[in-house]
Amino acid sequence: MFHRYSASKLRLNWLCVFLAITFFAVLSGFASQDSKFISKPSASLDKPTVLITGANRGLGLEFAKQYHEAGYNVIATARKPDAAEELNAIGVQVEKLDVTDAESVASLAKRLADLPLDILINNAGVGGARKSIAEADIKAIERIIAVNTLGPIRVTQALIGNLREGEQKLIINITSLMGSIERNARGIGYGYRESKAALNMFTKSLSNELKDEGFRCIVMSPGWVRTDMGGPNARLTPQESISGMIEVISGLSAEDSGEFFNHTGEKLPW
Ligand SMILES: NC(=O)c1ccc[n+]([C@@H]2O[C@H](COP(=O)([O-])OP(=O)(O)OC[C@H]3O[C@@H](n4cnc5c(N)ncnc54)[C@H](OP(=O)(O)O)[C@@H]3O)[C@@H](O)[C@H]2O)c1
Repeated sequence: MFHRYSASKLRLNWLCVFLAITFFAVLSGFASQDSKFISKPSASLDKPTVLITGANRGLGLEFAKQYHEAGYNVIATARKPDAAEELNAIGVQVEKLDVTDAESVASLAKRLADLPLDILINNAGVGGARKSIAEADIKAIERIIAVNTLGPIRVTQALIGNLREGEQKLIINITSLMGSIERNARGIGYGYRESKAALNMFTKSLSNELKDEGFRCIVMSPGWVRTDMGGPNARLTPQESISGMIEVISGLSAEDSGEFFNHTGEKLPW
């Protein structure tokens, strides 16, 4: 009798432990990997909101830092939010996003729901090898175009409703001087140059479509900057490039929409 009682009590205890573990596992699953709730300040309605793609390192990280310091609500995206230590340390809202993945983009849009966005910065990008046409790797070129061109198109499409609700109506696509056909005297760089030239054309068309709604859509070349992509010999620090770009962005007029600028506000040729 005593043994039967203690055995069933033991089973009950184990059942409780099992249910508690399951409960917490399910709960942490809901607080998904997509969103860093720990470092997520609630979006304040009296501050403008900027969303930056590819913000875990390089120029995107510096955009997040400087906009945060300037008092913006910053939504910074990364492919691996949990590994984005420097970004999480800033204390901005970090969201998971792979710009090449339609589901990832749709999921971000769903999480943002009807949150108004003032500024979208399509910054995420990849570089490419400089190979001759005989040696160029078509798969690598496809990947570059998927990230640098289709990524910003997909993200803009998914978030256009949020941007329409925002006040500033700014769409900033980070391009490169390498996307300028006129400035390409000797270069090759198959894939990267085409991806940025196509991004430029997308931005021009977008500016035409959204002009009457008060949108300003531009492409910006950040200059040659010391990041993983720019390398250690680049001329500018991320701080210099980003402070310049933020100043240019904050002074954009309706007439500037559809233009191609560098980080000092100089107009660049297509
Ligand atoms: N640095 C320069 O000198 C220079 C010059 C001209 C133009 N640009 C442009 O400036 C932008 C930023 O460049 P950067 O120098 O900061 O480059 P970077 O240091 O290499 O950083 C690239 C960023 O893009 C993200 N990214 C790559 N693929 C992605 C994807 N599929 N989905 C989401 N994010 C993705 C990376 O995330 P992971 O860490 O997950 O890979 C990283 O956060 C790019 O558009 C680049 O073309 C840079």
